Amino acid sequence: MNSFDHQQEPNKPMDDAADNRLSSDTTSEFSQLIDKALSRRQFMAASGVLGLGAFLAANPVNNAFAAMSKNQLMGFEAIPASTEDNVTVPKGYRAEPLISWGDPLFDNAPAFDPSGTSSSSSQALQFGDNNDGMSLFPLSDNRAILAINNEYTNYEYLFDHKGKMLTADDVKKAQAAHGVSIFEIERKGSRWSVITDSIYNRRITANTEMELTGPVAGHPLMKTEADPSGRTVFGTFNNCANGETPWGTYLTCEENFNGYFGSSSEIAQTKDQKRYGIQAKDRYQWHKFDERFDLAKNPTEPNRFGWVVEIDPMDPSSIPKKRTALGRFKHENAALTVNADGHVVVYLGDDERGEHLYKFVSKDKFNPNNKMGNRELLAEGTMYVAKFGANEGEMKGTGQWIELSHGKNGLTPENGFADQAEVLTFIRRAATQVGATTMDRPEWVAVHPGGKHVCCTLTNNKNRGVKTNQPVDAANPRANNKYGQIVRWMPAGGDHTASTFNWDLYLIAGNPGVHSEGLNAGSDNINIDNMFNSPDGIGFDAAGRLWIQTDGKYSNRDDFAGMGNNQMLCSDPDTGEVRRFLTGPIACEITGLAFSPDYRTMFIGVQHPGEKSKPSHFPDGGNSKPRSSVMMITREDGGIIGA
Ligand code: FEO
Ligand code: CA
Ligand code: CA
Repeated sequence: MNSFDHQQEPNKPMDDAADNRLSSDTTSEFSQLIDKALSRRQFMAASGVLGLGAFLAANPVNNAFAAMSKNQLMGFEAIPASTEDNVTVPKGYRAEPLISWGDPLFDNAPAFDPSGTSSSSSQALQFGDNNDGMSLFPLSDNRAILAINNEYTNYEYLFDHKGKMLTADDVKKAQAAHGVSIFEIERKGSRWSVITDSIYNRRITANTEMELTGPVAGHPLMKTEADPSGRTVFGTFNNCANGETPWGTYLTCEENFNGYFGSSSEIAQTKDQKRYGIQAKDRYQWHKFDERFDLAKNPTEPNRFGWVVEIDPMDPSSIPKKRTALGRFKHENAALTVNADGHVVVYLGDDERGEHLYKFVSKDKFNPNNKMGNRELLAEGTMYVAKFGANEGEMKGTGQWIELSHGKNGLTPENGFADQAEVLTFIRRAATQVGATTMDRPEWVAVHPGGKHVCCTLTNNKNRGVKTNQPVDAANPRANNKYGQIVRWMPAGGDHTASTFNWDLYLIAGNPGVHSEGLNAGSDNINIDNMFNSPDGIGFDAAGRLWIQTDGKYSNRDDFAGMGNNQMLCSDPDTGEVRRFLTGPIACEITGLAFSPDYRTMFIGVQHPGEKSKPSHFPDGGNSKPRSSVMMITREDGGIIGA
């Protein structure tokens, strides 16, 4: 995100001038990385880049610096795969926990209680569970706000009874473990810590008041008995990955919301409920104590979830806004870029086997000189869905963005779409209607800081080549896709609003140790030393390096032999080289990525270590209960991460 808006107006006095000034050393070293990747003009035009932070305000790029060599851009020593119960990083680096599930976020919060008997009111004052996407909003060089999703909970760790004897307060506790945690951090020396008395600290949970905005707000599909206006909804949950805007807000994306709805009596499942996985049998059992989640009593409540939510992290009293203009599906992240003409473009993946890849283009344009004027840019715009065409015999070609507007492309009452609210609420059905390509589970999307290309992880898909609506195709080229791939597209003429794009596969994950040939050996940039499966989190940093996080099979056996635990890698888009940077503990995934503005700290998430009662004691060791954690990665010499 760009910092020029909110940099000047935190609700708390800024640190002293010395704190706001980056050292000249920082400026020069980082400038070289930036220069390497793109010109200043491109940099200004780009956003959706991780942790740009205070850079624009504090670091004029000095073009006198020569470009750095490849070795300097990716200067770390690759690490081997690992099955250890820890986080490993390259030589000269260290990884330390910043915060873990249950840690206090406020002065009056109790410490983490590992017994599993603590109350909902404790959890509401503590860091939520299963941290996922995150963004850093700088206040100065050494102070920042972190906004972090808390995606879901593991009942086997949340409760002493492992979820088998749920009470009303247990459900409230689970709801309080979900949502978003927002808190201030401060750096002293090289280490950051949480400021528990900061005025910015806030928990957003499954019960926080939110406003529905955009074309679907107020529509009968959004109305419930408790909310006849169809505009006020409580809570957000299963917040997977994220995004950030150049006007300083945080985007949190609702993913597997279906698992929270159940039914006290039999219901006739509608076609749309089936498409979105909403059924009488629920995973979390909230409906037993909170009738909002009971489909028999509140059949329209699920329509109010599955959206992107915009939050102002600088104003703890602000009401989060659900942006219905960006469509309802199992949102992974929201990769935002400001197009050269000022339109805001957001790329969005729907993480389900055989679902789709989307693009939102704002109706109005971004104005860098009118901060407040940009605040509603995500309220109105046009949605598109991708259709990948291929050159004969090649895994690349030309694709189209097909508009999803009522009255166009067959989205008519005759085909079951009464109005635009229905197109957006059941956008999966609209995507099928227009003939969009079914994808291998689109996870994160990332826009290169130069804006020239965009990448999306297609994590895996056991249904490819099995279900008739998911035939093997050029962009999804393997039946029973176990390893995943990264698709890359270049918008026509560099214009993100264009209706066509050229695409290729940046990377095909595979196991060259098990498969000596064919696509399951992986693309040319995959080898025995850097192999992995199921790419999920990705992000470009401001220097243009692509960081890849995995959420895959950690059995280290059979098709996955030699891959070890889930991990994080760094890739150079200029050469395609992929190098392993970090490995996680037992039975976790690595997800969530942010940098300090000076790129000397990287924050990453370790989610669900020890899931399904696997033997992890991360991060506290001994016999402790495993806890999802945010890790800070620094260099022992204080240098720039990765360089
Ligand atoms: Fe929450 Fe698709 O990962
Ligand atoms: Ca994910
Ligand atoms: Ca995943």
